[in-house]
Amino acid sequence: MTIALGTRQDIDSWMRLAEKVRDSFPGLETWEALDGHRRTVLEFMESGGAICAKEQAEVVGALLFSREHNMLCFLAVDARHRRQHIAENMVSYMLTMMDSHSDISVTTYREGVPEGEAARAFYQRMGFTPGKLTEEFGSPVQEFVLKR
Ligand SMILES: CC(C)(COP(=O)(O)OP(=O)(O)OC[C@H]1O[C@@H](n2cnc3c(N)ncnc32)[C@H](O)[C@@H]1OP(=O)(O)O)[C@@H](O)C(=O)NCCC(=O)NCCS
Repeated sequence: MTIALGTRQDIDSWMRLAEKVRDSFPGLETWEALDGHRRTVLEFMESGGAICAKEQAEVVGALLFSREHNMLCFLAVDARHRRQHIAENMVSYMLTMMDSHSDISVTTYREGVPEGEAARAFYQRMGFTPGKLTEEFGSPVQEFVLKR
């Protein structure tokens, strides 16, 4: 397993993972949305904000982050590879590239939504604390913040 910044060569494999996990992401349901995700990922790849966990050439973990906004923007691990600390390793790698004095935020499911249990447990295990309740793509979400 390698963890590194993703490049354009990874986009097709990234999108195969995105298609598999699309049900976990409000805003990725339609083909148009997936196409928008592809364009977004390519932009993040250009600016060095896309991290891939790869087994050979296959992307099994994907993370988007913004240095400018101190945000974790997207995180997913292939269901076959979960609970192997892949997300943890990607977040640790991300942190090496971010300003060590700024808080980092992410939004995820609110409490009580079954699809959000893994993500909420994961972020809290990583040291993020639950913050304000907001909305994203018309869905209720909660911000989690890693204080630094
Ligand atoms: C959330 C997600 C990215 C976690 O990826 P992962 O690689 O399985 O996570 P890790 O193996 O690095 O987990 C590290 C720790 O987080 C906690 N954790 C992770 N998944 C958990 C779960 N399902 N239940 C409880 N705790 C969990 C555990 O403490 C785990 O350590 P442990 O396995 O030694 O107990 C993955 O479940 C996923 O892709 N889910 C679907 C998409 C999603 O919800 N993305 C985030 C939306 S914002």
